[in-house]
Parts: sequence; C-alpha cells; structure tokens
Amino acid sequence: MVKIVALVGSLRKESYNGYLAKAMQYRYQDRIDFEIADIASLPFYNQDEELNPPQVVKDFKKKVAEADGVIIITPEYNWSVPGVLKNALDWLSRVDKVLINKPVMTAGASPTALGTVRCQLHLRQILSSPGISARVLPPAGNEVLVNFAQNKFDKSGKLTDEGTLEFLDGIMDKFLDWIG
Ligand code: FNR
Repeated sequence: MVKIVALVGSLRKESYNGYLAKAMQYRYQDRIDFEIADIASLPFYNQDEELNPPQVVKDFKKKVAEADGVIIITPEYNWSVPGVLKNALDWLSRVDKVLINKPVMTAGASPTALGTVRCQLHLRQILSSPGISARVLPPAGNEVLVNFAQNKFDKSGKLTDEGTLEFLDGIMDKFLDWIG
C-alpha cells in the first residue's frame, strides 16, 4: 500500500476541497493508505519554537516524513493559498525539512470558472522554495482544477461528475508512477 498524506486548505464543514479529499480517500482505498492530516490543530509557526515544537507539530512532521507522497487539495483564497495551509507548509519547511524531494501533487476545487488555477501557481512557487524543494508532479496534463464545483458534487458531498472521476483515475495512476 502506498502511504499518502493529504493536506486540505479549507476548514469548512461542507468544503468542496474536503469533499474532493474524501472522494480520493474512498475511491483509491484498495491501493492507497490515504490519511487526511489535521492541519487546523497546528499552532501558528513560531521560529522560537521550531527546534522543539509542540507535540502536535512533531507528530505532523513525522507523519509527512514517513509518507510516500503528499497531496495538497486546496481552495484559492485571494488568488493564493489559504493561511492555514501556508502555516502547515512553513512548519514542514524548517529544521528537518521533511518535504525535500517528497513527491507532491496539487489539486483544488472551486465554484468559479478558473478553479484554483492562480492558487496552484502560487503553491508551485512555494513548493520550489529552498526549505521545501518538493518533487511536484509536472503540470502538463496533470492540473486537477475542479471548477464549477457546485455542479460536480451532490448534496451529501459525493463527487458525482463522471468526467472528473475519470480524470482523477488517470492522474492517480500518474502520481503513483511519479512516486515509484
Ligand atoms: C474565496 N473564494 C475565491 N475563489 C476564487 O476563485 N478566487 C479567489 O481568490 C477566492 N478568494 C476567496 C477568499 C476567501 C477568504 C474565501 C472564503 C473565498 C471563493 C472560494 O473559491 C469558495 O468559497 C470555495 O468554495 C472555497 O473552498 P471550499 O471551502 O469549498 O473548499
């Protein structure tokens, strides 16, 4: 089983991005041990604490360090990444730098036409920074931009759009190859 840790950039109960993460977790359960990390419980990054951070940070970094890959599933906030996600990435970028060379895939869902594209561009820049330097799945043909999300999930949060599901199947194969 491949071990994946997912970081979801929305804390909202009925988040499309949360639903997308759960759709992946359920659909690939035979192949992937898919854990959605609780990034909401991380305190704000503080450089004074980075050498001996709170236990919740230590546990989070260990989980990411031990994963074969990371999937970041996030909304776009003000053309960029939500603060809660940036905070998690800032913790991961320091001291033991657990994302260096880690295979990472990005994805996002949004009710708008552009479907998180500007956020994911920023995210790729962040993931290339020296403290992170992740091995990000290249964008050509691999951009998971679930736009007009209100038409792709049902009222219970189930991803029902066949085209999106087929696309996800293909991209997950590519990501598992990328990890390999
Ligand atoms: C947004 N939204 C948004 N949408 C977008 O396409 N570009 C943007 O820059 C923003 N900015 C933004 C900022 C803030 C603070 C909020 C709360 C929302 C709308 C956003 O795409 C929409 O609320 C999504 O549904 C949020 O994702 P979840 O919570 O459904 O996963």
